[in-house]
Amino acid sequence: MDLGLNGKTALVVGASRGLGRAIAVGLCAEGVSVLAAARNPADIEAWRAELPEDQRSRIAAVRADLADRASIMALADSVVATGGVDILVNNSGGPPPGPVSGFSDEDWVTQFTVMASRFFLLASRLVPGMRERKWGRILTVGSSGIMQPIAGLGLSNGIRGAIAGWSKTLSNEVAADGVTVNMLIPGRIHTDRLDQLDGAAARRNGITVQEVASRSLQNIPAGRYGRPEEFADAAVFLASERAAYITGSQIRIDGGMIRSV
Ligand SMILES: NC(=O)c1ccc[n+]([C@@H]2O[C@H](COP(=O)([O-])OP(=O)(O)OC[C@H]3O[C@@H](n4cnc5c(N)ncnc54)[C@H](OP(=O)(O)O)[C@@H]3O)[C@@H](O)[C@H]2O)c1
Repeated sequence: MDLGLNGKTALVVGASRGLGRAIAVGLCAEGVSVLAAARNPADIEAWRAELPEDQRSRIAAVRADLADRASIMALADSVVATGGVDILVNNSGGPPPGPVSGFSDEDWVTQFTVMASRFFLLASRLVPGMRERKWGRILTVGSSGIMQPIAGLGLSNGIRGAIAGWSKTLSNEVAADGVTVNMLIPGRIHTDRLDQLDGAAARRNGITVQEVASRSLQNIPAGRYGRPEEFADAAVFLASERAAYITGSQIRIDGGMIRSV
């Protein structure tokens, strides 16, 4: 299948490791020129150096911090000044774990800013160019907690519900201009973040990390954690020309973990 991505451009935020990195690599392999952003661009340079030579030149690393408005404004300005991008991938680090009743109003505001409103800001700056060109893709990484709240991830469950509402609303506003807006819903994909969460759960419950993982796997019909590359495959397809009629959706990449229909 020709995905029709050759020659397209993308901005992937949170691209130094994990899901963001896998998406950036997957898009690049399909001929997309990717601006990969994170707080530690040296980490991006490190994985870029491992790519096949013909792909390396299609990746550029840039420092950007979602916690810092000026940094994200500067990123958006520079992208707009160079003609915009065809694909925006909104991705970030996850929030600290904890029960939903345990956070202060400051925690909520801080995390909402980093995890949600900076995505909204980037999209508001980059979508007008997509609409003018009559082609665009907005992909936002969410969480299974949107459909099935995850115990101990109160901030994530709460804030990601808001992102889901934003994504669906935006999809309706821009669909007629050839811009699709979708969410990618990871179940348990094996990244640094997952290792950190399993480690925290092990400490909390006084059990080993292996025990935490084996309990998690009992809830995943596929019987294993997903690989970042499997997650990225779904992202690349949604970003492609072939997915032009898929918008306003939340695509689960979860090995069947989410219980709802
Ligand atoms: N993995 C899963 O199974 C899973 C499940 C549900 C939800 N999620 C969510 O999916 C997202 C990605 O997950 P992951 O597993 O890939 O996480 P990860 O391994 O922790 O990677 C997070 C990425 O975001 C970047 N980042 C963090 N804070 C940032 C900031 N302030 N500004 C810019 N970039 C920032 C990190 O790079 P720097 O440190 O260099 O900035 C890194 O590249 C997270 O929000 C996570 O909660 C993941």
